[in-house]
Amino acid sequence: MRLRECHNFHDFRLLAQKRLPGPIFNYIDGAADDEVTLRRNTSSFESCDLVPNVLRGVSEIDMSVTVMGQKLATPFYCSPTALQRLFHHQGENAVAAAASSLGTMFGVSSLGTVSLEEIRKKYPGPQVYQFYFHKDRGLNRAMMQRAKDAGVNVMMLTVDSITGGNRERDLRTGFSIPFKLNLAGVTQFAIKPAWALNYLTHEKFRLPQLDEHVDMSGGAMSIGKYFTEMLDPSMNWNDVAEMVKHWNGQFCLKGIMSVEDAKRAVDIGCTGIVLSNHGGRQLDGSRSAFDQLAEIADAVGDRIDVMMDGGIQRGTHVLKALSLGAKAVGLGRFYLYPLAAAGQAGVERALRHLRTEVERDMKLMGCTSVSELSRANLRFR
Ligand code: LAC
Repeated sequence: MRLRECHNFHDFRLLAQKRLPGPIFNYIDGAADDEVTLRRNTSSFESCDLVPNVLRGVSEIDMSVTVMGQKLATPFYCSPTALQRLFHHQGENAVAAAASSLGTMFGVSSLGTVSLEEIRKKYPGPQVYQFYFHKDRGLNRAMMQRAKDAGVNVMMLTVDSITGGNRERDLRTGFSIPFKLNLAGVTQFAIKPAWALNYLTHEKFRLPQLDEHVDMSGGAMSIGKYFTEMLDPSMNWNDVAEMVKHWNGQFCLKGIMSVEDAKRAVDIGCTGIVLSNHGGRQLDGSRSAFDQLAEIADAVGDRIDVMMDGGIQRGTHVLKALSLGAKAVGLGRFYLYPLAAAGQAGVERALRHLRTEVERDMKLMGCTSVSELSRANLRFR
């Protein structure tokens, strides 16, 4: 299978699986416990159907949206994700370039493998900095200042990772950063020589957002261990309220799921929330963002930008989320498989496909602008 044979999410996933060493593929592909929430994230879109209108004159389609003060040319954006140079040597550069070429937003993670400053300088698209709250308050302040100095547009604090999720695939392969693999894992690298060659012949793997502050070199640090040892489990609403004040700009909480929390986010001055269960990678059995969207949009949608992520594979999924009240939707695995499969060319192809799907689906729905999408065009079964 080649890139030009990839027409949808599943094709890219298969190509990524072919190219990546098993432990890395499974790190992306896997989720917590029994992966029930992972599956539900996508299947929840099938709990309702679109009801189209016709004969509306749809030759010009405006897909743009404004969230957290940023104008996005598409109603979807690339959520921040960790460790991208592990998936393809172009890493964050590929994702930022592809998102910028579409005029949409992308994120750089605290666990990113290219520095947020480098990315901010090179790519014009609105940039989110994904932030974790560390035990070391000095580190938190320093990281925020760095992002501010770099000209990052939106601060996005992940609030659903107060401890590591139970990722059993990673336990089996021994996946950790830097690598420490069990024997089965090492064998996998040997049978994917193209990946290994690329990895070894490009710039050394680093975590430039963290490596000034955290020693990740001494031993293997699993993602679970990083969450558990470095992040502050005592983090509470007062801490976040202080951060929001200190940042004094667009500030978003990623991983809000309850109406009560959504209201608190409004109260402390956040400008956005992302409904998310972290791609099913944290609390398995938790609700899908799509299932939870209507009640949150009803409660706070007029006071804060409500976004969601999780399970988006199709243009119709984007349309359903917008119809229920999301202002924009985030993508994760949707661009990570293409990144692993073919770097920037892969991500661009996948994002363009989604843009084409959204445009086609809007025409078929009889909508010329995303503001015309509403619950009137949805029916639950
Ligand atoms: C994960 C973190 C790093 O889900 O976001 O693996």
